[in-house]
Amino acid sequence: MRTKFKPWAEPYLNEHPEISLTNEELGELKDFYLEIGSGKGDFLINMAKVNPDKFFVGVEKNVTCSGITAKKLVESKETNAKLLFADAINILPLLKDGSVNTIFLNFSDPWPKKRHHKRRLTSDVFLKEYQRVIIKGGRLIFKTDNLDLFNDSLEYFQNSDFTLVNVTNNYQGDDIFDTQTEYETKKRKEGIPINRVIFEK
Ligand SMILES: C[S@@+](CC[C@H](N)C(=O)[O-])C[C@H]1O[C@@H](n2cnc3c(N)ncnc32)[C@H](O)[C@@H]1O
Repeated sequence: MRTKFKPWAEPYLNEHPEISLTNEELGELKDFYLEIGSGKGDFLINMAKVNPDKFFVGVEKNVTCSGITAKKLVESKETNAKLLFADAINILPLLKDGSVNTIFLNFSDPWPKKRHHKRRLTSDVFLKEYQRVIIKGGRLIFKTDNLDLFNDSLEYFQNSDFTLVNVTNNYQGDDIFDTQTEYETKKRKEGIPINRVIFEK
């Protein structure tokens, strides 16, 4: 899903530092919920709305998607959700060991070409960091419509210390601790099956 560049996005992000976190604040967080590649923010904001006792952070590297999320955050007045306009590879090292309760990877970019596989959010470099930052007993939950990415990712996880909790190639969206993303809504309308896997540390 291409997002048309919106020139207002970056100035808007600069005008609203309150929807984000400083590096120091990020390093102090404990037991929080992290979505990597949060797109236009529907999942992040809805999860925060229905779980007011939990703290959610989205990381998104695309400026237009981040600007759209920032606008939604400002309008929703949700205080338990924050957005980092950044590449996750630069954010993960700032997090303390065992500080994240759950990482959500929702419809991550598939990077189909072999030479690009290392950019996948489920590749080894990322998995190592997820393993470090997730709390013992915490989770990583990955949803995607892309079966190649899904199957490859299951293999990457086999070489990690994560334990498989649940895997399905036909996720119905019926978990109460979940909500649809923009991409998911579109794919479900097209009748495309959704794969989901849950791992535990
Ligand atoms: C296919 S979109 C899915 C967006 C959203 N999760 C959804 O399901 O609608 C993938 C998103 O991940 C973001 N992304 C990819 N790699 C990233 C990274 N390393 N750090 C932060 N965001 C990333 C992309 O910019 C894009 O917005």
